[in-house]
Amino acid sequence: MKTDLFLTTDSTPSHSSAGRLLRAAKNQPVDRPPVWMMRQAGRYLKSYRDLRQQYPSFRMRSEIPELAIAISLQPFQAFHPDGVILFSDILTPLSALGIEFEITESKGPVLAHPIRCQADLNKMRPLHPEENLLFIGQILQGLCHELQGQAAILGFVGAPWTLATYLVEGQNSIHYSLIKRMAFCEPELLHQLLAKLAEAISIYALYQIRNGAEVVQIFDSWAGHLNPIDYATFVLPYQQQIIRQVKFIYPEVPLILCVHDSTALLPLIAQSGADVIHVDWTVRISQARQILGQLPVQGNLDPCILLGSSGLIQKRTLEVIQEAGIQGHIMNLGQGILPNTPEENVRCFFETVRGVRYTGKAATETI
Ligand code: CP3
Repeated sequence: MKTDLFLTTDSTPSHSSAGRLLRAAKNQPVDRPPVWMMRQAGRYLKSYRDLRQQYPSFRMRSEIPELAIAISLQPFQAFHPDGVILFSDILTPLSALGIEFEITESKGPVLAHPIRCQADLNKMRPLHPEENLLFIGQILQGLCHELQGQAAILGFVGAPWTLATYLVEGQNSIHYSLIKRMAFCEPELLHQLLAKLAEAISIYALYQIRNGAEVVQIFDSWAGHLNPIDYATFVLPYQQQIIRQVKFIYPEVPLILCVHDSTALLPLIAQSGADVIHVDWTVRISQARQILGQLPVQGNLDPCILLGSSGLIQKRTLEVIQEAGIQGHIMNLGQGILPNTPEENVRCFFETVRGVRYTGKAATETI
């Protein structure tokens, strides 16, 4: 295969890991693509499963700083990714808004009292992270202390639409019929909810940055279930509001926007104001780049490729890197890693990316 990458066994980096990720997010030249994995801390890791036996509650694992720091660092210790993401959940700030939830093994997130009417909505409290989410600040500070620049620290938040799917549906959903009924029958009520969430999430993202997050990924995971017209009404303005508010205070901190099943929405996603657009595997990354113009991209290997042979993992990983081009690409999976992924396959993925060197357009080599 003809390529403009030069693959080398020399693993001496010319950028630090944190520097590499931050530079790529800002579209600056790097020696090779930075790499991390969505859901890189979690059930595919034996060290996580062992810890889970000892601490069976997700909220305990993610809200006790020592535990959450240790879990965030497990994939770093195993594979040395260029980024380490805070171990938490997009629902974590809900308790600080007065909304109680639990995350169970069989059902995922479950809310005791979903928001379905004005009276439910009126009970939501404004967010004061210094009072109610102190543990998040402590986790991020702990990660700064442990990592000392050896990897970029990623914070993350859920975007209003995706959080609202949990608030209204009360759990994971297939058709999103309750929130869509609210959107189409009581749009004012839903807009109120989305506006309150946008305000809270902006405050939360700023709090994460103040405490050490060097990049913030915004998950609008379930916005890809909307028609573009409804996306433009119920999703885009609230993403833009958060990004505007964060950028106003921290213009230099890269924001990554991640929407699943997003291919048809990429032209709208490009208008969000995010610095980097996460791309899932249902589109060629070169084609996504054509739609997104100069915007840096992240992705987009199908996580199921990591269930294949090492030869397949190497080939398909290098193909993504090749197609993405030599600037403004953060290598990642198109979605979260699956719990049944063998750890040696994850190692193969990271080693493959670490073996790449960009040498500019003129270089040739075979993969
Ligand atoms: O390593 C990391 O990526 C950080 C940890 C992380 C978790 N959740 C931990 C978690 C992150 C970034 C999230 C984000 C999140 N949570 C999203 C957006 C990401 C995406 O994939 O779209 C969403 C939609 C949620 C809500 C959520 N939390 C669901 C749907 C589930 C159940 C899914 C499943 O895989 O079981 C959770 C639970 C959850 N959050 C787990 C983990 C590691 C699994 C439960 C456990 O380990 O006990």
